[in-house]
Amino acid sequence: MKEVTLSPVSSPLTGKLQVPGDKSISHRAVILGSLAEGKTTVGNFLTGEDCMRTVDAFRHLGVSIEQDGNSLAIDSQGPGHFTESESPLYFGNSGTTARLMLGVLAGLPFFTSVYGDTSLAARPMDRVVSPLGKMGAWFDGRKDGSNFPMAIRGGHLQGIRYTLPIKSAQVKSAVLLAGLFAEGVTEVMEETASRNHTEKMLQAFGADITETNHHIRITNQKPLKAADVYVPGDVSSAAFFMTAAAIVPGSRLTLTNVGLNHSRTGIIDVLQEMGALIEILNEQTTGGEKFGDVTITYQKLKGIVIEGDIIPRLIDELPVIALAATQAEGETIIRDARELRFKETDRIKAVTDGLTRLGADIKPTEDGMVIKGTSGLTGGKVAAYDDHRIAMMLAIASLITEQNVIIDDVSSIAISYPDFFEHLNMLTRK
Ligand code: S3P
Repeated sequence: MKEVTLSPVSSPLTGKLQVPGDKSISHRAVILGSLAEGKTTVGNFLTGEDCMRTVDAFRHLGVSIEQDGNSLAIDSQGPGHFTESESPLYFGNSGTTARLMLGVLAGLPFFTSVYGDTSLAARPMDRVVSPLGKMGAWFDGRKDGSNFPMAIRGGHLQGIRYTLPIKSAQVKSAVLLAGLFAEGVTEVMEETASRNHTEKMLQAFGADITETNHHIRITNQKPLKAADVYVPGDVSSAAFFMTAAAIVPGSRLTLTNVGLNHSRTGIIDVLQEMGALIEILNEQTTGGEKFGDVTITYQKLKGIVIEGDIIPRLIDELPVIALAATQAEGETIIRDARELRFKETDRIKAVTDGLTRLGADIKPTEDGMVIKGTSGLTGGKVAAYDDHRIAMMLAIASLITEQNVIIDDVSSIAISYPDFFEHLNMLTRK
């Protein structure tokens, strides 16, 4: 338990900040670097706890992964040389490790058992177990095989044609990774585009993968070739400071080298539509991933409706968007976001509970929230529900409260943004 008391800060946020590497891309770099034969290097790797769980998993399977600060050197002979892990693999709090590793383990012809923390044990795994089972892998676990701890016996997979029943990049990625081991073609169709880092990185590693109109096709015909990966800054981490600049009057803040993959930049579109001034400069591309510098300048915000196809493009940013909405003139309505109930915690409950305690006018709905601005937030004691994104949202809220914000436990922040408080202090307590 690490309780913090944050006193209000009224000074604007100015200057520049480089946020840590992208969590989704970091996981995928370890996975594909381990599946590829040869030496892969990863620069600007996110050393947060979630991504380290993926590193540990491959070390247990026999892959050599050396870490030097935020650089990784992965030396692999490919999955044909992986060995059965003697001990169960521990995935901690990481849903991405869990879902994507199940896709990999489904292809490996041996037994593995896996488990996580209490939050991960409550998260649904049937969404990946179902398609991977159809491909030929065997799973068992709690709740009729749909929850961790879980056992897997993989190998002998057949390609499938699978239409995603939920908008989930983790499910899509699990099936595509299993497709690398399957006989024949594996096809995944999605109705709405979800983050496509797996597809882009598979291309960069030389896989036989194509995509047209949300229809992805992959085969096992081309073994992956080692590559050098640079991980752009995490737009989901940048979102906390973008929002901070959007709600603290007088702010003008530049976040450098932020990932700008279209499937992730819903937060930028929403803050712009709410009225914040955002400029993007120095755009570059690496491994198919766009990144650049994002400058956000404070301007009065207004309430908007957030629904439909944009939801997967900002699903992880909805907690901090809800905070921005408390400072926007009029009403903000968030719909079609029921998936929030299946994240590290039920984020609809956690966000509405936390912001209500701080004095906001916010109501939960079955698949979202309704927020009435503009409320002056008072402050008080709040719970982060062991969820990194809830803890960081509440910490950003303290920039505009009248009194202290006391957060029960902020240790979860180490999952995705170990330097968060250092960065917050640097920007606000000059
Ligand atoms: C992720 C996909 C999203 C997101 C999660 C990371 C990924 O989950 O919420 O934080 O890296 O693929 P879903 O695919 O379950 O929506």
